[in-house]
Amino acid sequence: MQFSTSTSSPDRLRTPCAILPVLAGKKLTAAGSALDAAGGGALARLLASGDLQAKAGATLLAHLDGAIKRVLLVSLGDAEVPADKAYCDAVRGAWRAAATLAADEVASLLHEAPVAQRDTAWKLRMQVGIGRELAYRFERMKSKREPQPVRPARVVLPVARAEATAAGTAVAQAAALANGIELTKDLGNLPGNVCTPTYLADTARKLGREFKFKVDVLDVRKMEALKMGALLSVARGSEQPPKLIVLHYQGAGPRQAPVALVGKGITFDTGGISLKPAAEMDEMKYDMCGAASVLGTLRAVAEMGLKINVVGVIAASENMPSGRATKPGDIVTSMSGQTVEILNTDAEGRLVLCDALTYVQRYKPSAIVDIATLTGACVIALGHHHSGLFTPQQALADELLAAGSDAGDPCWRMPLDDEYQEQLKSPFADMANIGGRPAGSITAACFLSRFTKGANWAHLDIAGTAWKSGANKGASGRPVPLLTRFLQARAKG
Ligand code: BES
Ligand code: MN
Ligand code: ZN
Repeated sequence: MQFSTSTSSPDRLRTPCAILPVLAGKKLTAAGSALDAAGGGALARLLASGDLQAKAGATLLAHLDGAIKRVLLVSLGDAEVPADKAYCDAVRGAWRAAATLAADEVASLLHEAPVAQRDTAWKLRMQVGIGRELAYRFERMKSKREPQPVRPARVVLPVARAEATAAGTAVAQAAALANGIELTKDLGNLPGNVCTPTYLADTARKLGREFKFKVDVLDVRKMEALKMGALLSVARGSEQPPKLIVLHYQGAGPRQAPVALVGKGITFDTGGISLKPAAEMDEMKYDMCGAASVLGTLRAVAEMGLKINVVGVIAASENMPSGRATKPGDIVTSMSGQTVEILNTDAEGRLVLCDALTYVQRYKPSAIVDIATLTGACVIALGHHHSGLFTPQQALADELLAAGSDAGDPCWRMPLDDEYQEQLKSPFADMANIGGRPAGSITAACFLSRFTKGANWAHLDIAGTAWKSGANKGASGRPVPLLTRFLQARAKG
């Protein structure tokens, strides 16, 4: 689905199908009315019939005799000024209905509808984002791909001349974001036998070549030299070599401190010797979605050319049982020098992240955000709507919360008080890698906090939001929208 803006006025518009918003009281917008007047008022008569339901997203197709042969009327609901949800429902309804038409191109004026506290740029971004979301398919592993063309193939978004530049940027940035989201989804959806640590490293290298930024991949020998004993302990049971992938996107001057994104990249999590039950274990191919969100965000940011420096670090490994695998009770020394008693080999995410978090601090980042499918407990706490946000820093929390709600990719701040640290006590090492059943997502964050002392750090637990289970199983691409919005705001400020 390709989106472009146009500055031709509504009465000059030539399109196989115009998509018009309908507001409370069956009212058309200014452009809609102008278009209807040029066509003799047929739309007003059709609306008066009451055949268009008032529910946001309801549609009614009109066939006309004028220059424009089809008009798709789309209801925005019965609120005087529609809110975010009504607008997004309307966009979704419009794209679904348009997909059933024999028209390759449509012109949408949905952004002419007012939306509470939202500007034209936001309304355009939502049309692009929702369109690309609906058009996404993952068919790379099917031997026979069903060649179904995406409809509509092209969407024209008419805007006023005065808004043309800003609108063009908004649409281009939304497309860049969609490209990043799709990369994240593809990586998540690929099976564990294809998407290995080496595959993630190759994907990062390819991104670096395409967008001209530096990518370093550290292998086992380098990790040993750096004394990354925690990360290496997770990889021990696997035939696949682990990789520490470092991406350097330089959109600003070399003196500007980078923002660091650190992703958990467990390409398959069996649990290790603390083996997981068989049911739904296939979903642990998604345990690299934090890593995939780092790659997707960097792709979006690089395509946008944001004036900001970002360093991405991905700790990539499998977590497998074997005769060489780490055993419960084993004690390892992390890169920071702190020792960890591994009481459960299934709490591996924090082990690979702690060394990546120690490592990334050499770049003196202005902020560090780690992203991880870290705990089942976070799914129990927050379900599938909000990602978990953990940070001791109020300002960083505010930035991430705002970015999430603005991008429609929300997170919810969880507590991180020192009281919870006690659950990580070990009689033999500096800490244990688990803190018992109560507050499992918080004690996991507490563990990470011990490796980010003095840094401006936040942790996003995306265990409940990175993918969907069941009939519509698939990666969501979250939290790429949140992270990209966060970096866009930082690039401006
Ligand atoms: N990758 C899992 C977390 C997970 C589980 C995410 C299910 C999404 C769905 C993580 O490595 C893990 O196994 N965590 C354990 C920690 C426990 C052993 C303290 C968990 O949540 O059960
Ligand atoms: Mn695990
Ligand atoms: Zn895991």
